[in-house]
Amino acid sequence: MASFRFQIYILAVCAGLVIQSSCNGHSGLQKKHVALFIFGDSLYDPGNNNYINTTKDFQANWLPYGETFFRYPTGRFSDGRLIPDFIAEYAKLPIIPAYLQPGLKDYTYGVNFASGGAGALVESHQGFVIDLKTQRSQFKKVEKQLRQKLGEAEAYTLLSKAVYLISIGSNDYSIPLATNTSHDEYVGWVIGNLTSWIKDVYKKGGRKFGFSSLAPLASVPSMRVIQPGNTGPSGEEVTALVKLHNRLLSKVLTKLKKELQGFKYSKLNLYTYAKERINHPSKYGFKEGKAACCGSGPYGGIYTCGGKRGVTEYELCGNVTEYVFFDSVHPTERVYEQVSKLWWGQNLKELFEV
Ligand SMILES: *[C@@H]1O[C@H](CO)[C@@H](O)[C@H](O)[C@H]1NC(C)=O
Ligand SMILES: *[C@@H]1O[C@H](CO)[C@@H](O)[C@H](O)[C@H]1NC(C)=O
Ligand SMILES: *[C@@H]1O[C@H](CO)[C@@H](O)[C@H](O)[C@H]1NC(C)=O
Ligand SMILES: *[C@@H]1O[C@H](CO)[C@@H](O)[C@H](O)[C@H]1NC(C)=O
Repeated sequence: MASFRFQIYILAVCAGLVIQSSCNGHSGLQKKHVALFIFGDSLYDPGNNNYINTTKDFQANWLPYGETFFRYPTGRFSDGRLIPDFIAEYAKLPIIPAYLQPGLKDYTYGVNFASGGAGALVESHQGFVIDLKTQRSQFKKVEKQLRQKLGEAEAYTLLSKAVYLISIGSNDYSIPLATNTSHDEYVGWVIGNLTSWIKDVYKKGGRKFGFSSLAPLASVPSMRVIQPGNTGPSGEEVTALVKLHNRLLSKVLTKLKKELQGFKYSKLNLYTYAKERINHPSKYGFKEGKAACCGSGPYGGIYTCGGKRGVTEYELCGNVTEYVFFDSVHPTERVYEQVSKLWWGQNLKELFEV
């Protein structure tokens, strides 16, 4: 009985301290960390697509992917770490694992649902990726499990202190747009579906978000070469869509900040950061801004890195740290590190200070 009372006492003291987020007691109450939940596409996918039935176009689990940091392929679409890996490091969290990683049970530091090729619209690469809608239902399962494990109050505390990162939209604009839809209407759907994701997470307690503008997609190596059989929008059209998307995203976020009490966000200006590095590589320590390190054809723009996507021959550069692009579509770890640092210092850090 005495020990029971003692435990209650510890819990009470701890619960008081949790408000100032300094409780590190042994009571089982939440430790002083901010969990990180990640959604989106290949920019953030740590290997979820390794575990789904898809094609090699939507996977990257072979060398030289992963060679720089992990020394083995993880499924990340780069030579090394991605933005969420750097953010987790800066926030003193472990690397946040892929939701589909077999055996994963502990979500107290967060989890990553992102899937290469996914868009905000279900139609984008439908059947080959984990679309945003499915990522949302996976998050609901995690939320339910947290409530069962930690209890309602503590689970809510964890979810409301957590930071939610998302990278979405690029894949919606690299496929043929729905027929007879105007740009305004189509971009409206993409932002509309992103908005309903925000409101969904907000309903579960989420308050702190990290968004990203879309990169200048027409400047990736694969867009610099004519892809046989490509029926997607032209470079000019992609640029118009990206600019429209980025403008509308800013507008909607400003509006949501007024509508949703306690909603906080930080936005990575990926468009500008990527464009600067592509156009002026040497200013940022790179030698090559336009061509991919790994791929084939002009600019390494044919998506063959690693030789597993139907074509076995590909070229690999000698020194990946000199390149802005690792494969025909995705940046190198070095770019991700630079932009993560900039984002963290800009104001993302503040979201992790409870
Ligand atoms: C995987 O997808 C292919 C092509 O869509 C299909 O033929 C196959 O049956 C699927 N396999 C499983 C295990 O679902
Ligand atoms: C698209 O619009 C054109 C002109 O308004 C019309 O002739 C055509 O049938 C429409 N196509 C579809 C698939 O709705
Ligand atoms: C979400 O996307 C679908 C197309 O996949 C579209 O029909 C729907 O209107 C969008 N939702 C919102 C809220 O914009
Ligand atoms: C690779 O390139 C970087 C940046 O230019 C340079 O600092 C490094 O020494 C190079 N490494 C090798 C092995 O050449």
